Amino acid sequence: LGEPYLTDLFDFGEFPTLTTKRLILRELALDDAPGVFAIRGDYQVTRYNTGPAYTHVDQARRLIQSIRDGYVRGDELRWGIALKGADQRVIGMAGFNYWHRTDRRASIGYDLARAHWQQGIMSEALRAVIDFGFTRMNLNRIEADCTVENEASTRLLLHLGFQPEGIQREQYFEEGRFWDLRLFALLRREYSR
Ligand SMILES: CC(C)(COP(=O)(O)OP(=O)(O)OC[C@H]1O[C@@H](n2cnc3c(N)ncnc32)[C@H](O)[C@@H]1OP(=O)(O)O)[C@@H](O)C(=O)NCCC(=O)NCCS
Repeated sequence: LGEPYLTDLFDFGEFPTLTTKRLILRELALDDAPGVFAIRGDYQVTRYNTGPAYTHVDQARRLIQSIRDGYVRGDELRWGIALKGADQRVIGMAGFNYWHRTDRRASIGYDLARAHWQQGIMSEALRAVIDFGFTRMNLNRIEADCTVENEASTRLLLHLGFQPEGIQREQYFEEGRFWDLRLFALLRREYSR
């Protein structure tokens, strides 16, 4: 990968919509609250590490507002994932939780409505997100962390070329117990190979 043209470096101006073969990754709007609630209200989606499942659509609205505020502050970039063509209803979310400019590293997070699991959707979405990170954000390192028991997310990260870097033992407390978290990262030089 070459250095990006500096004029092309992402600056949190116009929201960067991305498209892939099957998907549109677009800005989340407050109207997406029912779609986000359908994702975050499902215990199977939230059981690893995103807090308890939502019980009310207002929680989805607050999440969307906080994602939009994070974008305005220039420290959070998260896309809503929709299927091309259809009604463009949001079926998932993916993006960067933070961006450390000096170290040129950022961390990704993602989740997907259960009806769409195991069809290669998140692999396809994250390829576009990662590509954006290495080109438009000029990142050197993309990090992810994942509960050790979360087989789907672990397989997804390995599939995308992320390397496991170790385990933070008993890193967080939820549902009455401590959970181990595995750290992963993908480096720019590995990605370009
Ligand atoms: C993790 C998640 C986003 C995966 O999305 P997905 O679109 O189903 O993943 P893909 O279809 O692109 O699959 C990627 C790889 O993971 C594997 N995989 C996906 N779901 C799996 C499952 N439930 N069990 C085992 N392997 C699984 C696929 O087989 C594929 O592996 P392969 O390359 O070895 O064939 C989805 O399961 C999800 O939203 N989970 C709940 C939220 C979550 O855990 N988020 C991450 C927190 S760290």
